[in-house]
Amino acid sequence: MKQRGFRVSFPLLAVGAAVLLSGCGATKQSALAPVGPVARAQLGMFWESLAIMTGIFVIVAAVFLYSLIRFRARKGDATLPKQVHGNTTLEIAWTIIPIILLVFLAIPTVHYAYAFGDTPPNAMKVDVVGHQFWWEFDYPGSQVTTANVVHIPVNTKVDFVLTSADVIHSFWVPRLGGKTDLIPGRVNHLWLESNQTGTFYGQCAQLCGAGHAYMKFSVVVQTQAAYAAWVQSMQHPKVSVTTPAQEAGMQLFSQDCATCHTIGGTTFNGKIGPNLTALMTRPTIAAGTLTNTPANLAKWLHDPPGVKPGALMPNLHLSQTQIQSLVAFLETLK
Ligand code: CUA
Repeated sequence: MKQRGFRVSFPLLAVGAAVLLSGCGATKQSALAPVGPVARAQLGMFWESLAIMTGIFVIVAAVFLYSLIRFRARKGDATLPKQVHGNTTLEIAWTIIPIILLVFLAIPTVHYAYAFGDTPPNAMKVDVVGHQFWWEFDYPGSQVTTANVVHIPVNTKVDFVLTSADVIHSFWVPRLGGKTDLIPGRVNHLWLESNQTGTFYGQCAQLCGAGHAYMKFSVVVQTQAAYAAWVQSMQHPKVSVTTPAQEAGMQLFSQDCATCHTIGGTTFNGKIGPNLTALMTRPTIAAGTLTNTPANLAKWLHDPPGVKPGALMPNLHLSQTQIQSLVAFLETLK
C-alpha cells in the first residue's frame, strides 16, 4: 500500500503565511515600525543579533554543503576516510569566535537593560491596573481615570506603573517598546516614549483567561497642548441629559450599572468595571473589541459575554427599549 501521509504544498504555506502576516497589519502592532527610543533601541538589537545569526548560519551552511559534496562516498571506494581526532587551532578558533560575538551582543544588551530598567527621574506617571479583561489607567495627582485608552504627550518619557487586580497580564505596545508583566501584589515599571503623534495599539501579551485576546487598548499620543486640553476635559466632563430617553437611560444606569461603573460629572462611582467618564471620546468599547458606535454599544449591552467571550459584565437581559435609552444616555458622555 502506498502511504501518503500529510502533504502540505509550499505555495499553500506561503499564501497562509502572507494572510497571517498581513492580518497583523503592516504597522498596526509591529515592533518593526518603532516610534520611540525604547522600541528603536530594541529593534536595533534585534537586527544586530539577526545579522550575527545570519552570518553564522551562512558560514556553517556553506562549510556543511562543501563537506557533503567534497567528501561524499564515491562509487567503488570502500576505504575508510582519514580518521581525525582533535585540532587545537580549530578548537581555539571556535571557542574564541563565539565569545567575541557574545561580547558584541552583550554590550548593547547590558547597556539597554540598565537604561530601560531605570525609570527616568522626571518621567510622567500613569498607573496601570490590569483586569480580566480590560485596562484601567489612572493619572496620579490629576484625578483622571480612564479605561482601555491612554493619552500621553509626544516626546515625553512616561513611567507606566503596572499592577494587576486579579491574574498576571502583560502590557505591550509593540511600536513603543517591549512588554512588561502586571502582577497582582507587586508593582512593575515600564517607561516608554513616543516621538510621533497618533494612535498606537496595545495588547495584553500574557494568557489571562477566556477574554485574553480581547484585552486591547489604544495609546493616543498628542501634542503637549492637545494633551493638556484632554486632561482639562477629563477633569470637567460634560454630561448633559436633556431628552426623555436620555433621562430614562440615566435612571436605568443608576439602578443596573452604577454599582460597577464610575462616570465623572455624575454621582455614579462603582469601581468594579471600567470607568466610563467621557466614554464617547474613546475609539473603541469592550477593550478594543468593537468600534465605539451607538449600534455597537447596543450590541454590547444586549449580551456582553456573547460579544466578548469571558467578559465579566453579565447579560442584564435588557429590553430593546432599555438598551436604546441606555445608549442615548451613554452618548451624552463627552
Ligand atoms: Cu490580560 Cu491576557
